[in-house]
Amino acid sequence: MKTISLLFLLYTTLFSGCLQTNKQTKENQQPAKENQQPVKENEVMVYPGLNDSLHRELMIQGAILVHQSMFGIKSALMDAMQKGGPMYALEFCNTQAIPITDSLARVLNVGVKRVAKKNRNPDNETNDFENTVYKEYVMGYIQRAIPKTRVDVDKDGHPVYYKLIDVKQECMVCHGKLYVDIPTDVAAKIRKLYPNDKAIDFEVGQPRGMWAITFNHILIKSDKP
Ligand code: HEC
Repeated sequence: MKTISLLFLLYTTLFSGCLQTNKQTKENQQPAKENQQPVKENEVMVYPGLNDSLHRELMIQGAILVHQSMFGIKSALMDAMQKGGPMYALEFCNTQAIPITDSLARVLNVGVKRVAKKNRNPDNETNDFENTVYKEYVMGYIQRAIPKTRVDVDKDGHPVYYKLIDVKQECMVCHGKLYVDIPTDVAAKIRKLYPNDKAIDFEVGQPRGMWAITFNHILIKSDKP
């Protein structure tokens, strides 16, 4: 309970922080480069670079959004598992996983996705840049490094927050080895729903994919190539 109220506090503080930035910008209306302040173009905040304070703010916003989405997916998945076991939960994931991540995204104009190279749903495919991020996470896993969250700027100039998703024991019934961790009936249903499924053969602790939170309402216009 304490964590939830703390998060709520952080959340409201952050978003009121955003509003303040908007107000300042309106008052200043100077070119972005001169004062390092963002300017507002349509509904997008344009920054001259990903400076330290913006980076810090996005790391916190990203963490909160991941926490909320994870909480949404996890509690919904656990409910479904309890209600009808993995077969029912599978169907639930098939229809509900993307709507749950989308619901927050719509309100805040951020893109909330879980992406994976070895994906189940091809809509969750990593792009070229994300493949390199993921590779770094895999290297880190091999070297037993603690995975770090990060913010990068995508090819359209939007900052994206990334966080590694690793495999837990409770994931194995749908993402482990066929017929060992994944029972026959569940395996058959996965095949039926996802004919090109690549998201099996994982082991506990391995990287599974990444949260990718794209801040569509922020644009970084940097001079650097
Ligand atoms: C009941 C079966 C089930 C369980 C348990 C399960 N998943 Fe999945 N998972 C799915 C299905 C089905 C999808 C595809 C959802 C969709 O269509 O978007 C999926 C998709 C994903 C994706 C998105 C990338 C992709 O492959 O499409 C990630 C990441 C993921 N799961 C991680 C996990 C993790 C981590 C756990 C454990 C905490 C877990 N899953 C537990 C069934 C399951």
